[in-house]
Formats: sequence, C-alpha cells, structure tokens
Amino acid sequence: MCGIIGYIGRPPALPVLVGGLQRLEYRGYDSAGVATLGPGGVFHRKCAGAIASLAEHLNGRIEADRSGSGIGHTRWATHGEPTAVNAHPHFSCDGKVAIVHNGIVENHATLRDALTARGHTFASETDTEVLAHLLEEAYSGGDPLRAVGRALREVHGSYALAILFSDHPDFLVAARRFSPLVVGLHPEGNLVASDIPALLPITRDIRLVDDGQMVALRRERVDAYTFDLEPCRLKTQRVAGGWADTQQQGFPHFMLKEIHEQPDVVRRELMGRWNGDSEELRMAERALRNARRAVIVGCGTAWHAGLYAKYLLESLLGLPADCCLSSELRYAPPPLDERTLVLAISQSGETADTLQALRLARERGAATLAITNTPASSLAREAQGAWINRAGVEVGVAATKTYVAQLSALALMIRRVANRNDLIEPLTRIPDQIQEILRQDEAIRKIAERFLDGYDFMYIARRFNVPTAFEGALKLKEISYLHAEGYAAGEMKHGPLALVDEGLAAVAVAPRDDVYDKILSNVEEIRCRKGAIIAVVTRGDRKLVRRADASIEVEATEDVLSPLLTIIPLQLLAYHMATILGRNVDKPRNLAKSVTVE
Ligand code: M6R
Repeated sequence: MCGIIGYIGRPPALPVLVGGLQRLEYRGYDSAGVATLGPGGVFHRKCAGAIASLAEHLNGRIEADRSGSGIGHTRWATHGEPTAVNAHPHFSCDGKVAIVHNGIVENHATLRDALTARGHTFASETDTEVLAHLLEEAYSGGDPLRAVGRALREVHGSYALAILFSDHPDFLVAARRFSPLVVGLHPEGNLVASDIPALLPITRDIRLVDDGQMVALRRERVDAYTFDLEPCRLKTQRVAGGWADTQQQGFPHFMLKEIHEQPDVVRRELMGRWNGDSEELRMAERALRNARRAVIVGCGTAWHAGLYAKYLLESLLGLPADCCLSSELRYAPPPLDERTLVLAISQSGETADTLQALRLARERGAATLAITNTPASSLAREAQGAWINRAGVEVGVAATKTYVAQLSALALMIRRVANRNDLIEPLTRIPDQIQEILRQDEAIRKIAERFLDGYDFMYIARRFNVPTAFEGALKLKEISYLHAEGYAAGEMKHGPLALVDEGLAAVAVAPRDDVYDKILSNVEEIRCRKGAIIAVVTRGDRKLVRRADASIEVEATEDVLSPLLTIIPLQLLAYHMATILGRNVDKPRNLAKSVTVE
C-alpha cells in the first residue's frame, strides 16, 4: 500500500520520480505527489487521482526540471480521504522537512495532540504528517540523520520513509520498519523506493534495507546506519527477470497480458525443478518430510493457493494441514511447535498480515517456508526457506499468473515428496493445455456479454476445485464489482440454495473427476430452481454441456492438477465482464497490489 521513491543525482529529479511512481502505481493510485529540491529551493505538487493526473499538474515542468533531488509518493488512503491536501509529501511547519511514507503511524493521535499542544499546526488528516512535525522538533538545524533516529523512537507502527531536508541539498534520508524499502545504485545518482520495478530502468544494482535501518543517500554514495547511528551494511540483491515484464506489450490491459503469459509462467516454474534436482525442491522436501503437520497462511488469492496446498498435502501425503487466513492466525493462532511447518504464500512477500503470521510462527518455534514471487521481499528473507516463483512482475492488481505459479510450485513439491512420478508427464503438459484454453477467449467474451445483465454469481466446485470456485468469484468481484460468491457445491443445500432464482447464474467448475457425479446433482438442483448454469467442463463432456446454458471446455488432466486449468476460463470471464462494464481492470477501485498495512 502506497509507493515511495527518493532520488539524488546528476540527471534532473522530476522525470526519475514520475517514471518511478508510474511503476509503483500498482501499490495505490488514489492520489500522488512529489517534492524536489533545486536551485530555486523546494518545489512540490500534489493531487488526487493517478500518476497521469500528477503528470498533468506538473504541466511542462517535468521536461524543464533542474532539481538534483526529490521524493515522490503514490497513495492508497488509510487515514484521511484521497485529496490533494492529504496526498504526500507532508511538510513541517517551517517547510524545511518534506516526507513521504508507506505504512501506518499507529500512535498518530497521541503524537498529534502532543505536537498541537506544543504549537504545531496540521494541514492534513493523515497519520504521516505527525512525522514531519516530529522531525522538525528533532532537527531544528542540527544533524538530519540524528534527528530521524531520535524522532522514530517515538513512533509506533510501520514505515518506509524518504525525507528531504531543504537545508541539505546534498542528501536524502530513508528509513524502514515493517514496510519494504530498496536502494538502487548508479554512477550518475542513487535511488530509494518501495519496490524494485521503480528502479529497474535506471539500475539493477540493488541493496536491501532491513527493519531498523536508515540510509543517507548522496549522489556519489549511500551509507547505512541503525537508528542509533551505528554504521551497518545493506544486503546486495541480484535482479533477474526483464524490465519487459512491466510493459503492456500490445495488450489492452496488463491483466490480459498476464493471463496470456501463463503457459510460459508454468514452463518457467517447472524448468529444472520437475525432476527433483533443484535446490529449492530439496529444501521444500526436507521441510515437508520433517513436518508432522502443516499450517498454511496467506491472504486473498494466496490463501486460495493455500487451500489447494491443504488438499494436496492431505490427499497425496497424508499430512494433516490447516489453511489459515493470515489476518486470523495472528489473533487466533492454532497450536504451533517445532514439528509444525508454516507455509506462507504471498506474491509480493510484503503482505503485512502474512509477514506477521510468519513472525509469530517463528517465535513459537515452527519451521517456516515461504512461496513468493519476490526474491527481495521480507517474506523471502525472514522464512527459513524460500521457494521463488518465476512468474515475473505482475502489474495487474488482480492476481492471475502468480496464482498459477503458486499452484504449479505446490504441485511440484508435494508430488515430489509423495513420490507420484505418474504426475510428472501430466504436469509438463499443463502449459500447452492452458494455451488451448486461451484460444477460447472470444467464446468466453461472448458468454460474458450474455450474462452481464441481471445476474448475481455463485461459483461452485468440489474437492480440489473448491479453491478455484473461491478464486473465480474473487476475480469477478474485485475487477467488475459484480456480486459473486464461491461455495463448495455440497454446501448449497445448507443455505445458499435459497438465493437461487432466475437472477442467479451458477458457474459450475466440474471437470470429469471423481466428484463429477456429485456436482452434476448440484447443477440439477440449481437448474430446477431456474438458476442459469455456466459450466467449466472437460473437453468432450456432452452430459453437462447439455444441461448448461453456456459452457467452456478445458483439457483432460489428472484430478489433482485440474485447478491449474479450470481457473484460466474464470480469469477470462471476469476480465471480459469487467472490461465490457468499462471498469479499470488493472487498478480496481479501493484496492492496491501490495497490502502492507494490517
Ligand atoms: O502479495 P500477496 O500474495 O500476499 O497478496 C495477497 C492478496 O492481497 C492478493 O492475493 C489479493 O487478494 C489480489 N488482489 C487478488 O487478486
């Protein structure tokens, strides 16, 4: 949530900041702002809306800019509405300190009262502004680094900060506690940002800032310190993957591009891993063999991948497994001990609830394994072992290719431990089978058009595809804003069946597996109550196609692997419904890609 950037160097700051913010926009896009420091002093601009509006407000200044340093922010509002006033940067009363912040100052109300009593006046409703005023008191013309360390001692909560002191045009300060922060080094200038994509067009020479560290960023060097000003070192990160990942490559939306990348994503995920020779496989195997029980944690789509993991662990390995929402595990943790493996799944590796769940698991002595798409993430660094997905940068807020990468990773590692060699060949066929499904894009668009008006949606499935039903419903609601729910089909008659009438469309995920007959009965129960049926079926299944109002075929595979295929048409269905409705599918309202607040 929220993206920050700071830059100091020879090329002018404003183009670097605006370009970086565009690549951080997936983190929040309700308002944005920049502050730069140049020969004419501090300049700033803030506005409601996306980075494109900020660029418009800058109105020719980007090209004319001569400032050598600056900070920028793209916001996902937590405290205070998304207005220009609440947009970052925030300033001290004397205007000498400008700050951008990702995170939450939990004790902001107490701090604000105390600062107000001492004569500070506040311009915004944000929690962040207290930081600017605290810094003003701690600084007052002294040493900026010392001031930051001192001010942060009073702050509870999470933060990644970039701070500009107008008295010190030669450096910026950045600091981190529980929110991601990376540094990019370049001979012409240095940068700091919430995430690596912001830095990639300029440099691949990345350093990771840890919790409790701050950095002084100068044009020619970067120095790191603890908050007590002890010098420390930053870890180096080698960046793999292409910058091309963050380009739209001719697709109308990132989401569609990412859906179409899935055959390659699965190929990459399997490469060098399916036969058991990879270090990651050996590490995952050790972790699973040592465990008496698994507890899987994640949020949203990652939680759905976790549910799939639970089904696999229990049915292929006989390993008892619970799948917990990260936000629940923290406050109602199941018993965790050294024979429990906590498997934390997160695309970003920065989801605050999942990180806190992982930390709690470590405190309780559990073994921890992360599955994440982000090698430099806090999750990858803090778990005892990390499986890095190879999905490449996912820009669309709706997770698509990273979900399929997570499922592939889980199938790979659990198959391995279960010694199910019979699954290897079907796994290697998945990429081509996904490609076949993608060929039905136009047919799926027509189904989307047909069912757009007058329906609520109920996604139903059984066994391995229950997570598919949940994920399909989540995709539809998050990008189209239509009402959709996912259910285990067997649960329908315990309540949800009361919702069925001619205004309900059931999306039945019903491949030809060993629960096929059961779901067929559920389909009949909906049909005879006048509900419409959109069925996802195995190619050649005439029986269900005849009963359905519309159907989409997927290729035949092993039951346990079918979720890697059945989700693809549901992603396309959601995409087309949302685009026909004119929604901003890559940046749906109220959401952000990386949820770094609890
Ligand atoms: O980065 P993470 O995988 O931890 O993110 C978890 C959820 O926020 C994420 O999956 C969210 O539900 C997506 N928008 C779903 O498309």
